[in-house]
Amino acid sequence: MNSYQRKAANLIAVVSIALAIVAASGAWLIVPGDGALTAALFAALAAIACGAMIYPMVVRLNNEQDRQSRHLLSSHVALLEAMGKAVAKRDSDTGDHNYRVTDIAMAIGERMGLGKAAMRALLSGALLHDVGKIGVPDRILLKPGRLDDHEMALMRSHVPQGEDIVDGIPSLEEARDVIACHHEKWDGSGYPRGLAGEAIPLGARIFAVADVFDTLCSPRPYKEAMSFETAWGIIRDDAGSHFDPKVVEAFRPIARRLYELHFNGDARRSRELLERQIRKYFF
Ligand SMILES: [Fe+2]
Repeated sequence: MNSYQRKAANLIAVVSIALAIVAASGAWLIVPGDGALTAALFAALAAIACGAMIYPMVVRLNNEQDRQSRHLLSSHVALLEAMGKAVAKRDSDTGDHNYRVTDIAMAIGERMGLGKAAMRALLSGALLHDVGKIGVPDRILLKPGRLDDHEMALMRSHVPQGEDIVDGIPSLEEARDVIACHHEKWDGSGYPRGLAGEAIPLGARIFAVADVFDTLCSPRPYKEAMSFETAWGIIRDDAGSHFDPKVVEAFRPIARRLYELHFNGDARRSRELLERQIRKYFF
């Protein structure tokens, strides 16, 4: 019995008993003589029997509603995943980056004590963080060399383009903080708004650490993957400039374990770990 069914059972029991008392009292007053007691008992039993018949119907309706909500929720999560993967594919990635970076951000979020709603928003934002890259031309997105100033401006436009994509879509709105602010820096030197400190939403500050850590630990066409020690050293040294020091502090005790999980084994593990997080916070 879930909490809704428990509440429904309690409510039906209270209403049935109240009805039984009213019906019995009415019968007692209306029916004259020896038949009064029998009529009162009969009325009370009838009221209780009605309540007992209503309960299974309420349970059935609740189960159906529950099934439909789960179906909608899993469609929502699948949509987030598909959109994130579509962008990653354009970026010549398999989607593994999205899985890793989302799981790492969620692990930091848990360490920082984020509530369920904030964790869901972090998950949605992490999966969709670069959705605006859909609007960046291939010649820039896939350019192997250095970008000039004009190209860099176009590349950076993936942030406002991402905001435009989720704008006005209530189910994607929770991803906005991470999409809009994942390139902001603690000291105000990031883009697009140059926000600083706690003016940057916490989800975006958490995500920035996860995203950079993942980039450092992953191989790219232009660089080899860094060792854990080198990557962690860069994150630690950038606390207070690029990153929120509290986020880096929360990441410190779990960084090596996350590195071993995501970069020292089967890439499918990242997907499995993320699935576990989805089950935990969405179902
Ligand atoms: Fe980005």
